[in-house]
Amino acid sequence: ETIYLEDYQPPAWLISHTELRFELEEEHTLVRAQLSVRANPAVADKRMPLELFGDEAMELCRLSIDGQILETCDYQRDAGCLRIQNVPEHFTLECVTRLLPHENTALEGLYKSDGMFCTQCEAEGFRRITFFPDRPDVMSVFRTTLVADKARYPVLLSNGNPVDNGEDGEGRHWVTWDDPWPKPSYLFALVAGDLALLEDNYTTLSGREVALRIYAERKDLDKLDYAMQSLKNAMRWDEGVYGREYDLDIYMIVAVDFFNMGAMENKGLNIFNTSCVLAHPKTTTDLGFQRVEGVVAHEYFHNWSGNRVTCRDWFQLSLKEGFTVFRDAEFSADMNSRTVKRIEDATLLRTAQFAEDGGPMAHPVRPESYMEISNFYTLTVYEKGAEVVRMLHTLLGSELFRKGSDLYFERHDGQAVTTDDFVAAMEAVSGRDLSQFKRWYSQAGTPLLTVSDQYDEHTGEYCLNVRQSCPPSPGQEHKQPYHMPLAMGLLAEDGAELYAGCLELTGEEQQFRFTDIASRPVPSLLRGFSAPVKLDYQYSDAQLLMLLRHDTDGFNRWDAGQRFCIRLLQEQMRRYRAGEPMQCPDVLISAWRELLTDASLEPAMVAQCLELPSEAQLSELAEQIDVTAIHAAREFMRAALATALEQEWLQAYQRCDTGAAYAADAASMGRRSLKNLALSYLMLTGCEPWLELARQQYEQSDNMTDQLAALSLVAHSGFRETGAELLQAFYQQWQHEALVMNQWLSVQASDPTPGALARVQALSTHPVFDARNPNKLRALIAGFCARNLFHFHAEDGSGYEWLADWILQLDRRNPQIAARLLTPLTRWKRYDTERAALMQAQLQRMMDTAELSADVYEVVSKSLM
Ligand code: ARG
Ligand code: ZN
Repeated sequence: ETIYLEDYQPPAWLISHTELRFELEEEHTLVRAQLSVRANPAVADKRMPLELFGDEAMELCRLSIDGQILETCDYQRDAGCLRIQNVPEHFTLECVTRLLPHENTALEGLYKSDGMFCTQCEAEGFRRITFFPDRPDVMSVFRTTLVADKARYPVLLSNGNPVDNGEDGEGRHWVTWDDPWPKPSYLFALVAGDLALLEDNYTTLSGREVALRIYAERKDLDKLDYAMQSLKNAMRWDEGVYGREYDLDIYMIVAVDFFNMGAMENKGLNIFNTSCVLAHPKTTTDLGFQRVEGVVAHEYFHNWSGNRVTCRDWFQLSLKEGFTVFRDAEFSADMNSRTVKRIEDATLLRTAQFAEDGGPMAHPVRPESYMEISNFYTLTVYEKGAEVVRMLHTLLGSELFRKGSDLYFERHDGQAVTTDDFVAAMEAVSGRDLSQFKRWYSQAGTPLLTVSDQYDEHTGEYCLNVRQSCPPSPGQEHKQPYHMPLAMGLLAEDGAELYAGCLELTGEEQQFRFTDIASRPVPSLLRGFSAPVKLDYQYSDAQLLMLLRHDTDGFNRWDAGQRFCIRLLQEQMRRYRAGEPMQCPDVLISAWRELLTDASLEPAMVAQCLELPSEAQLSELAEQIDVTAIHAAREFMRAALATALEQEWLQAYQRCDTGAAYAADAASMGRRSLKNLALSYLMLTGCEPWLELARQQYEQSDNMTDQLAALSLVAHSGFRETGAELLQAFYQQWQHEALVMNQWLSVQASDPTPGALARVQALSTHPVFDARNPNKLRALIAGFCARNLFHFHAEDGSGYEWLADWILQLDRRNPQIAARLLTPLTRWKRYDTERAALMQAQLQRMMDTAELSADVYEVVSKSLM
């Protein structure tokens, strides 16, 4: 069944108060819900039935209206919906349901993670707890009582503030929580368990005292400091940059090990995947630290962009997610290196989001229809949505953007609204007409900018011609031109900047003239990735190398280097296919030598520049993806650069290997990234001394970043014996740290040496692997499919069959995860006919299976269209 945006109807019934009582027991949980229901005054027809959503499998024990028990003939219950006709205009609905949290393997609704009770209600998990108008435009004040065994579950948490508690006899106790802010049901949460706590406090700008509490299993108590510091930084930042303060007396975060996504912004009670909150130098990599900082901030920022102002319906998901990702990206940029953050985000867009935009699941930032909303928590809604907000920021400038955001929060505080409302606030403060801009919300696909130029040396006039187009996507044959900022500069041959500014594109084809230009300039286009588009301009090699040396925009310096590498790699792919010898040109070697030996450059930037575009990105760029040629060309180039610059890699390694104790700041992280990149090239030479160096680093490092880098380099090298030895030692050292074991699985899943599939198959029966745990599945299965492309796409189709087997098995347990793991197979049309047929056959095999979940069915059926 497909749901359409155009069918939206406001709710006929509103719920002003929701009172919940949970009796948490080992065999089951009883939930009593009391809803204060009243007719929506804004809806004329007062005879509409009351419509409640409730999972088909949920047991309904009692249903009453104003104390009158309803018999089964008094309502209709079918496929996830319960309808009651002829209800009065105001009434209290009481509903008792019985749940089996310990059997909930979908990790949606109320479930158990490592012995503790927790919830995940976004998007439609609340309907697995009780019958409710489970839609974001029904906002209600919640009061929640939890009753549980005191010894097993000493900590009982829900949204808001604790207002009462007591003992219940027989070792049971209870706590009542009251959340004064009306909220949609998807923001409801509860946690019950035996949890340790890190506590701190924060004084808001206006002087409100807030208790900050981060809960985790006792063994992880030493891994909460970084999240706490990040939270305080985020709170300060949101006050300074957006004027937003926190609005309750307590802010809680709980770490759980079984979680489908990264984290969830439940009002006052965020629930986090352990991977996004626990951090300790010994067990967490730099990437992990950055993720914790970013996700903690993201969920905190949702308190305004998401909770105080929420979404009218799930088509508006990007209203909160796009805006909040933009906010967390700016926060991370302010806390670390702005350019590096931009490079990472642009790379994610260009690699994964562009691929989504070009595949069968392509959808606009504001989708028009869905079968299962869980499938739309996508890179398009999140990351492209954030780019759309960033473009508004660029077009309006930061001052007007802030005014627009203030107006948006002021106008819509306490409301459930749309992306149109967001843009309307930006229009109101700027006086600009943003109707064309809104096509970014409604049109899918990645636009292409084709740029050409002319220079007239007699008049000194330089002219840029910009043409924009956007390929068709499912259901959208023709696209209208977009309104977008094109940030750019003009550089003289010697690198002097002649012009810097931002052009606005609105037409399909536009010309821009620059006068008084003394000699033919080199354009630096799409600076800072000012719009989520592809750019086609016929740069010469010399121009790209000049930009790599001299561009004043750090992002475009990096980008020029990447463009040059992509061009060279594509040429080697051609040679590989033609059976010609591959080459690594001297110009590349000397450009890299220059970067590598320039100690004045930021190490983090150098590391970004000297990393070749990934196989995934080269795949995205290919007309037809030739897995073998991409792998061969990239590996050839890496080996050539390793050998040609061996001394320079060693010097860079030594320069960055300062011996200083671990610190999680941007400068130290940057040094470690260059050091480990240098080590990776040294290892590629296959020389024993570098194996020794890696082994030394493995043994002597005081932090997971360096230890894991060394491990994975040795494990992926030709030194199989040492690799196996280190993997075993690592396992011995860390087997009791779940998150470290995820890394251990991940390193092996991405090992590109022969026999990869057999290795991951063996690991799937290893005791540390647990197919019920999403982090383990992501580490091993998604790890193999996404970071071991050469083996996943083995010519005999064994990788595809293995993945399909997993999906079918997982779909019965956890449909959300199953549907996510499916992504690589959806891209089958991009491959050669043999591989495409093999992938298609696996999709067809799934399609022919009875009883697919809605999640998997939607992705499989759309992929086969
Ligand atoms: N709102 C959460 C976040 O981005 C993600 C929740 C995802 N839930 C889901 N069912 N897909 O912060
Ligand atoms: Zn979010």
